[in-house]
Amino acid sequence: MKKTITPKPGIMDIELYVGGKAYAKGATNVVKLSSNENPLGPSPAAREAYRDQSDFLAVYPSSDHSDLRKAIADTYGLKADQILCGNGSDEIITFLCQAFAGEGDEVLFTEHGFGMYRICALGAGATPVEVLEDERVTNVDALISGCTENTKLIFVANPNNPTGTFVSLSEIERLADGIPQSTILVLDGAYAEYVDGYDGGASLVESRKNVVMTRTFSKVYGLGGLRIGWGYASVEVIDILTRLRGPFNINRAALAAASAAVLDEGYISYCLADNAKWADFLMNELRKLGFECDDTYANFVLARFANEEEADAVNDVLAENGLIVRQVKGYNLHNCLRITVGKGGDCSRVITVLKMFKEDQA
Ligand SMILES: Cc1ncc(COP(=O)(O)O)c(C=O)c1O
Repeated sequence: MKKTITPKPGIMDIELYVGGKAYAKGATNVVKLSSNENPLGPSPAAREAYRDQSDFLAVYPSSDHSDLRKAIADTYGLKADQILCGNGSDEIITFLCQAFAGEGDEVLFTEHGFGMYRICALGAGATPVEVLEDERVTNVDALISGCTENTKLIFVANPNNPTGTFVSLSEIERLADGIPQSTILVLDGAYAEYVDGYDGGASLVESRKNVVMTRTFSKVYGLGGLRIGWGYASVEVIDILTRLRGPFNINRAALAAASAAVLDEGYISYCLADNAKWADFLMNELRKLGFECDDTYANFVLARFANEEEADAVNDVLAENGLIVRQVKGYNLHNCLRITVGKGGDCSRVITVLKMFKEDQA
């Protein structure tokens, strides 16, 4: 008889996910620019809907999420029966790996792909496989040639986190055309709203059974604390994933807040305009100071420094001044820091500290 407690193969290979830090020792006026949250918060309508639910806390939430699915479908022009809601889009990613990848199967993503792809692949007993990017941009040819007969899932975040780069829908279409129809291509659209005119890949889901889109309420909708995401896929795939879903995986306050948030399109336009303005400011000012960054298509900027030591020093001086940004060494980006686009005043604070840093160096 076995005497030790042993998890399934792969589980102990999982390195714990390290989220963005939320504190800076000794600093005052601390602002968190480490998790790509919306600095303006959610729509006032979402807050009100959340508060209203306090009268119904004893009552189980909807199990089929029909109101939220309808609100999403109406806003984005999608089919409600092809939407599946999850406890964050992380949960949809988990369902996809659980449903489609197991021992001997490969889950493919790019070298700076979002950390949950590896964790969920290993959690399902599958093998995570990385392909190179092209200067921090998703390389479609590398994904196509990295796809083997064992590849069950391909994850592509577009825009990508933590790089902030984007590939066109026609490139994504070329990827979908270049892989077997039995391989599922997941288009992670956590930041899709930030790209004007991009549908996150919804049109490809309509035309292909093996394409899945995931979306979240954690970014521009400002509801990261409530944990709500959704997936859009063929009815066949939705039917498979639904079998894994707990009946009450989203609480009633989250459902109500998300429904109100997605219907308040005016508020989202306001947040997107504010983000675009301050993202441009951050990129321009970083470059003026001699720090490199790619054009961002999301609500964060990946700043590149001369080397890891300089990135560490900048991280420290920002933290001393109450500005918490994200180190991305776990993504093999040792000389980079990911800075969430905050409120205008906070973006200015970041640049002021970086100017001081440069002056001290001179
Ligand atoms: C690319 C990407 N996908 C998915 C997620 C997960 O989002 P959530 O589980 O909050 O919906 C994130 C969160 O940072 C992300 O950056």
